[in-house]
Amino acid sequence: MKSNTEKFGKTPHQPSLWTRADALKVHADDPTTTQPLVSADFPVLSNEVFIWDTMPLRDLDGNVTSVDGWSVIFTLTADRHPNDPQYIDENGNYDITRDWNDRHGRAKMYYWFSRTGKDWKLGGRVMAEGVSPTAREWAGTPILLNEQGEVDLYYTAVTPGATIVKVRGRVVTTEHGVSMVGFEKVKPLFEADGKMYQTEAQNPFWGFRDPWPFRDPNDGKLYMLFEGNVAGERGSHTVGKAEIGDVPPGYEDVGNSRFQTACVGIAVARDEDGDDWEMLPPLLTAVGVNDQTERPHFVFQDGKYYLFTISHTFTYADGVTGPDGVYGFVADSLFGPYVPLNGSGLVLGNPSSQPFQTYSHCVMPNGLVTSFIDSVPTDESGTQIRIGGTEAPTVGIKIKGQQTFVVAEYDYGYIPPMLDVTLK
Ligand code: FRU
Repeated sequence: MKSNTEKFGKTPHQPSLWTRADALKVHADDPTTTQPLVSADFPVLSNEVFIWDTMPLRDLDGNVTSVDGWSVIFTLTADRHPNDPQYIDENGNYDITRDWNDRHGRAKMYYWFSRTGKDWKLGGRVMAEGVSPTAREWAGTPILLNEQGEVDLYYTAVTPGATIVKVRGRVVTTEHGVSMVGFEKVKPLFEADGKMYQTEAQNPFWGFRDPWPFRDPNDGKLYMLFEGNVAGERGSHTVGKAEIGDVPPGYEDVGNSRFQTACVGIAVARDEDGDDWEMLPPLLTAVGVNDQTERPHFVFQDGKYYLFTISHTFTYADGVTGPDGVYGFVADSLFGPYVPLNGSGLVLGNPSSQPFQTYSHCVMPNGLVTSFIDSVPTDESGTQIRIGGTEAPTVGIKIKGQQTFVVAEYDYGYIPPMLDVTLK
């Protein structure tokens, strides 16, 4: 593969690299970067549906926003099938693990509302059946646009393909609750181009999803982060000096790490409304380190850009590892260079005794981190598990310069608003 400079040419910026040397600094179970144990007796939001990725309603500056005193979250959601013969095992029991593992194929966007920033009430599906062009409605971001309650929902339309799309609707409130109206016309925005971002034809395991639009606090322009992989045929990438970084003797062997090619993508809007986008080179690449940098998002604090992204143990490359959780990078300007937080990038990982307890963390500008419960062991050996499909306890972190610290734990699914908008 070409070096970054050859590949991305005379572009506005060169991607920052998350190197193998950085990743060697990742240590599970450091209490300052580890999520407190989630107890197996957690409450579930709903017995009818599983939920996972949680997307708080916010404005383009990143502030979590309530409307007329109602907090609103969107979630990836799938029905639970306790009575479907397809999910009954040979002993006549509901195989919830299989049902849960199959959920991605039938993911739909739902919304919930609350007066307290927790105790969420199910609102329903955002789009009626048949509105979204593909089988799967995958993660994105709901943006409150104005005091008229207009909402742009950016999300990923998956299978066939993976297209970043948006659909505009409106949030309506009453004394008794919240409804989402409109959301009838889905507009495709863009797909991977094969030049900067890997396509399905280049790699059937490609990732291209999870739009996170924002207004740059410095230049005021509309941009969007998303998850991608670096373009090129699967197996064609090279893990050279730059990707390896400054490793100790004996750590030069990169094994098969050329197959791991995650990046955080960025696009800029050509118009005010965010209907017309141009992809730019990635902000950050993890070639030779990790294959997935999912749901990238920013916190703008102290004049800096804090870039967060979620990743898994199983997507790490040969010779490097880390827990499932959220990783972070910081820069003084939008296009970098980005430096891994805490030296390694790890901000909040699962404890090694419960490696799958939570995932899909979203760091909010108030330092609160929301995630969902995946599975929690119910016995010492970890062979028995309880499936979640519900909100995890919210964690508080403190972001200080190039470091972060876990400082608090809150209630399940606690997502308080940072500002309230009174609708006209
Ligand atoms: C993160 C994620 C997202 C994707 C969704 C699919 O949990 O993998 O990247 O949009 O889940 O279910």
